[in-house]
Amino acid sequence: MAYVIAVLNQKGGVGKSTLSTNLSTAYARRGEKTLLADADSQGTARNWRGTGPSAEEHGKAFPDVVGADTAESIETLTGDEITGAFDVVVIDGPPGVTEGPGEVTVGALKAADLVLLPVRPSGADLWATSDLAELVTTRQDATGAPDAAFVVTQADARTNVAKEISGALEKLGIPALSARCGFRVDYTKALGKGVAVQDIQPGGKAAGEIEAIVEEIETRFHD
Ligand SMILES: Nc1ncnc2c1ncn2[C@@H]1O[C@H](COP(=O)(O)OP(=O)(O)OP(=O)(O)O)[C@@H](O)[C@H]1O
Ligand SMILES: [Mg+2]
Repeated sequence: MAYVIAVLNQKGGVGKSTLSTNLSTAYARRGEKTLLADADSQGTARNWRGTGPSAEEHGKAFPDVVGADTAESIETLTGDEITGAFDVVVIDGPPGVTEGPGEVTVGALKAADLVLLPVRPSGADLWATSDLAELVTTRQDATGAPDAAFVVTQADARTNVAKEISGALEKLGIPALSARCGFRVDYTKALGKGVAVQDIQPGGKAAGEIEAIVEEIETRFHD
């Protein structure tokens, strides 16, 4: 069975695609057969891979990428064909176009073993995320799944709001990972070049942050 990680937040620009592309590449390079499912009709993950070098050219693994931006295609991610072929499936979720989470977000939530909610340390992001947090905790209460965690992204460690955000997030009933993504240009460069932060600066701070996130997922959730 593939382990399905859905990266969701209806708020636009919080770092869903950045986290999904880097996380899925990190899993692929750990030797896991990894699929990155692009649930956003903007096609960011598909463009990311289309822009970048192939694994053969690059000499390092990348995830396979597939479009899954309808409720029906999201459902196929938990079908035998995909769960039999992959160890890890990462879903890059869409931003909300209407009020509240759309059907693709709800489909991804149902498919997921783990939901990651990237959130920037700002009041606006916190407010925008509370609907989805409630949807996640309601489903957890009803079915016992999926696991869920916030991932603080674009954090400037020097600011108080970045320091205080964990407490505010906890009040929404979902824990935050201790591993975070700082505000770093490597993330923007990697997304634009179709590679991972590890390729921009091997052993750099951003690469270390992604590794720490994978480690924390593996120790806390994926046993
Ligand atoms: N940790 C970070 N440090 C610096 N820039 C970042 C970071 N994470 C994301 N960005 C930048 O912020 C912008 C939005 O990121 P991204 O596309 O990952 O967000 P998203 O949630 O997928 O957006 P959308 O809702 O449109 O799908 C991009 O330009 C990206 O390079
Ligand atoms: Mg995106």
